[in-house]
Amino acid sequence: MTHHTGLVLALTFFLMAHLPLRAGEATPSDASGGVKILNLYELEKQASQKIGAGPFGYVQGGSEDKVTMRENTSAFDRKQIVPNGLAGIDGVDMTTSFFGIDLPSPIILAPMAAHGLVHRDADKATIRGTRMAGTIMAISTYASVPIRDIAAAQPDAPFFFQLYMSRDNGFNEYIVGKAKEAGARAIIITVDAGTAGNREADVRNNYNYSSETPNVMEYYEEGNMTQSQARELRKVSFSADDIRFIKQVSGLPVLVKGVMSPDAADVAIRAGADGIWISNHGGRQLDGSPATFDMLP
Ligand code: LAC
Repeated sequence: MTHHTGLVLALTFFLMAHLPLRAGEATPSDASGGVKILNLYELEKQASQKIGAGPFGYVQGGSEDKVTMRENTSAFDRKQIVPNGLAGIDGVDMTTSFFGIDLPSPIILAPMAAHGLVHRDADKATIRGTRMAGTIMAISTYASVPIRDIAAAQPDAPFFFQLYMSRDNGFNEYIVGKAKEAGARAIIITVDAGTAGNREADVRNNYNYSSETPNVMEYYEEGNMTQSQARELRKVSFSADDIRFIKQVSGLPVLVKGVMSPDAADVAIRAGADGIWISNHGGRQLDGSPATFDMLP
């Protein structure tokens, strides 16, 4: 199925650790400053003090009571690694490759939207970070920067493109074409976020994610459509036909993100998916769904 036999863990980094943060919504970050952290919990705490409550709640929050969001983390805590001090291994090699891309370890970046909410260089900073880490960037349809500009910010960085499909196939074909032109190595079809979950932090903060999505707007500008009208065309229901369509128009490997059951995996693979991405959208969608890690065989 994929070109890789091992397990590739896609971790959502809240922010790349070495990047300067945007200091509050109105104050630009100090581009020369860095974030000193030991772990992601510290980074999250620092970010909560610098980013406005609305954007922070949107980025950090899950849906409803956040049961699934917590499960995602605790599933990792529950998995244990049995040490074997007598294996006679001298030095560990974690290198691997994924869709022909060499990696220092089986960790790639999960796709995320709206990087501009938390850093002034947005996705351009992220792709510099993934390149430094030697891993693969995932550019979202809802990136804060046009795909070509992200790719140009770090021309040697491999990236995938995360597609939020529209009910307008003209848009799907257009944006996949843009991603391919910019050098995307695979398309990730998102089937775990047809519609946004009920995120209580956003209700509490009266926050409506309204970040710029230039990749969407470039297509709709000619029709004089507003951003929210364009977003209303977001596809909510998916089937094998969508996978076949994107494979055909892109000519690239297609990964289906949001598979959470053997039945869904079966549909995706039979439709020709080159990979399945086990995901519940970070616990931001259907609260009560199981942890992604627990769904692995
Ligand atoms: C979210 C959308 C962008 O998780 O998928 O907020």
